[in-house]
Amino acid sequence: MLVCPASANLLARMAGGLAEDLASTLLLATDAPVMVAPAMNVRMWEHPATRQNMAVLAERGVEILPPDTGAMACGEFGAGRLPSPAAIRDAVLAFFLRRERKSGPLAGLRALVTAGPTHEPLDPVRYLANRSSGRQGYAIAQALAEQGADVTLVSGPVTLAAPVGVRLVRCETAQEMQAHVMQAMPCDVAICTAAVADWRPETEASQKIKKTGDMRPPALTLVPNPDILAQLCALGTGRPGLVIGFAAETETVQAHAQAKRARKGCDWLVANDVSPQTGIMGGDENEIMLITADGVETWPRMSKHDVAKKLAGRVAGWWRDVR
Ligand code: CTP
Repeated sequence: MLVCPASANLLARMAGGLAEDLASTLLLATDAPVMVAPAMNVRMWEHPATRQNMAVLAERGVEILPPDTGAMACGEFGAGRLPSPAAIRDAVLAFFLRRERKSGPLAGLRALVTAGPTHEPLDPVRYLANRSSGRQGYAIAQALAEQGADVTLVSGPVTLAAPVGVRLVRCETAQEMQAHVMQAMPCDVAICTAAVADWRPETEASQKIKKTGDMRPPALTLVPNPDILAQLCALGTGRPGLVIGFAAETETVQAHAQAKRARKGCDWLVANDVSPQTGIMGGDENEIMLITADGVETWPRMSKHDVAKKLAGRVAGWWRDVR
């Protein structure tokens, strides 16, 4: 049960075990976990009676979402403001994630997810990049966490909010992403959704590259970036038990993806057509093929969240079998 907002009066009734109206009666009768989001005037919040009531409730295992500090409706300033709806939602989600960590289908599983594009700098103000939004990878990290996995998400530059209950490591370049991924080893499952830049400029100018007198554009020499997925697959004893790659293709998707799975050495490969007319790269939906040693499955077009949930379900099936 979430009590939101929890007034000083209701908190006092909870602490005293009163059951004089529907809310306090339900709170006394329930055997469900209870979370409270107190909201009141700052002096009411700091009053010894409220302090004592909060201590009693905490002692009984009530989860307390501390109020924010700031300007109050009554014109005063201090602690006692109700946190934002988003912060309350995240606290509730985090509560359920903590429970799933103990008993969910992916409890005990350590997962690594890469997501987003990488930025490869040319000079202090310019970089090479791609159109990846990171949405599919973030949704997968969230879906794994919701089923109880301990998730590290290594993300290139995106505008998405951190998924709740996921360890988010931000980076910019492919080389940084590689370093963070290797630091996150060992893990049970690695899912590489990131659109890692295949090449980077050979040198990064320390100052902004200026136009020259003859206005000739500068030559751009590229060098290959590390292939993070292939490296994970090639790890000896430290290889994750299940490595899932993604294939972004714009033509002959299945054939390219099957060749890519063999070339990189991953167990499963999720292939999608990222041609501009599909609206997949940067969009909310995805249409994928799952390629495994058993063959090719074509999933219908669905939201990236639904793809993530379905894939997390498949990972849970694998985890059940290997555990
Ligand atoms: N990948 C990676 N490191 C790279 C390039 C790709 O880890 N330097 C991973 C991606 O995260 C994805 C898979 O490899 O899981 C395939 O990425 P994709 O861009 O489709 O393939 P490439 O290897 O770049 O091959 P190509 O560009 O020739 O299609």
